[in-house]
Amino acid sequence: MVIPEALRRRYEEYGQAHVLRYWDELDAEGRQRLIGELERVDLERIDRLVRELVRAEPVVPIDPAGIRPVPIHRLPRTDGERAARRRAARVGEAAVAQGEVAVVLVAGGQGTRLGFDGPKGTYPIGPVSGASLFQIHSEKIVALSRRYGRALPFYVMTSPENHAATAAFFEANGRFGLEHLRLFTQGQMPAVDRRTGRLLLAGKDHLALSPDGHGGTLDALAAPGPEGQPSCLEEMRERGVRTVFYFQVDNPLVQIADPAFVGLHREAEAEVSFKVVEKVDPAERVGVVVELEGRPTVIEYSDLPAELAERREPDGSLALAAGSIAIHLFERSFIERIVGQAELPYHRAIKKMAYMDEEGRLVEPDEPNAVKFERFIFDTLPLAARSAIVETDRRIEFEPLKNATGADSPATVRQRMSDLFADWLESAGARVLRRSDGSVPFGIEISPLYALESSELKGRIPENTWIEQPLYLR
Ligand code: UD1
Repeated sequence: MVIPEALRRRYEEYGQAHVLRYWDELDAEGRQRLIGELERVDLERIDRLVRELVRAEPVVPIDPAGIRPVPIHRLPRTDGERAARRRAARVGEAAVAQGEVAVVLVAGGQGTRLGFDGPKGTYPIGPVSGASLFQIHSEKIVALSRRYGRALPFYVMTSPENHAATAAFFEANGRFGLEHLRLFTQGQMPAVDRRTGRLLLAGKDHLALSPDGHGGTLDALAAPGPEGQPSCLEEMRERGVRTVFYFQVDNPLVQIADPAFVGLHREAEAEVSFKVVEKVDPAERVGVVVELEGRPTVIEYSDLPAELAERREPDGSLALAAGSIAIHLFERSFIERIVGQAELPYHRAIKKMAYMDEEGRLVEPDEPNAVKFERFIFDTLPLAARSAIVETDRRIEFEPLKNATGADSPATVRQRMSDLFADWLESAGARVLRRSDGSVPFGIEISPLYALESSELKGRIPENTWIEQPLYLR
């Protein structure tokens, strides 16, 4: 087998022919694999990204003068606002009951910060049961499907790196009783050397590839399924799905298919909607939703200039306080339009990545050596004709698992879950032992199969129940 001439020429033209350096050492299988990978790379795009994001400092088009707070549907504080949310919830409930809502979970990330060996969704987070994130999310969907008398279709995005492990986990657990579950895989992008912009090899016969960011969800939903299956989007269309509820694997408190959120989105005739929480710490690592030259836009925390992060209202609150918790709604028709027409911008991430050096040795670098290219789902927001930005209460809906220790770690997530479930039990009449700061000194957990929200506990907790030790209700 020889190197296809056109391919060699293309790689030479773009100054990337070094990836063929080990050709003579490869067996037939290795050659096949390398050619396959190289043929899939869009060299023109890589070349542009290297010019824009590696050789140059990325231009983040943020002119503080053009940025304003975005109008939001704030948490109800008046009777009128409460009534409006209840009305919206009825609209959302009808949409779910009619099978018009599908659920998409993105779980293709590498979870490097958590330092856990395995897909993040398999992490045993339940404070008493050790239930995984996937189990908790799946049980919510099973419970919702029972409540509405209609299977809520569940789509889980994996990456080529964690697909097999994710699929095996769902199978080993009987798919947690889900009626509909479909895994789909996101795309990959080659990484380049941060100094030279040259493609990195992870081995003699393959490139250093990494997931293309959750912005890749849209293309992945539109891609044909394996063995001639329709794409996820086509399947949704056939099922009569109009609206897609999107969330990240790391937040066990997510209110999947929240009817009030769906209803506000519908009432606004929105194409894309975002849930936000009030940001109180300027340094909090969440993207902020702002209005940029009149259009709602997300600025990622790493791109937000301190001047903007710290801007304050006269009452002392943060001016740009709409913190995105990565819970979105998309109209299916919007996704179909975007996939055909617009390319979301790429962002760069500077990371440590093992690579093969010029002598054919695999090097584990001590310092970040590579640039990965990723697209972000929230860059769809300015492309929507209409959107709804809906505020929620972080105490009941946002506690993500990101780090091994400190903030957003297993300890803080389990504590928040226990505290929240204690609130539910107390509102149903129980009494719970608490520390002086209000936190619960042991684990409390309620499976979504037992109750999806505190109102479902009413009348089920015996009078005078006193909880002073770990409790798991399932
Ligand atoms: C993310 C958001 C941030 C938001 C915060 C809320 C980004 C870039 N930023 O931050 O604005 O306020 O969550 O918790 O997302 N994923 C994939 N494929 C990929 C990359 C990521 O499926 O290629 C998934 C991960 O599995 C995870 C989610 O996307 O579920 C978030 O990725 P992560 O990199 O952890 O984002 P954060 O920096 O935490």
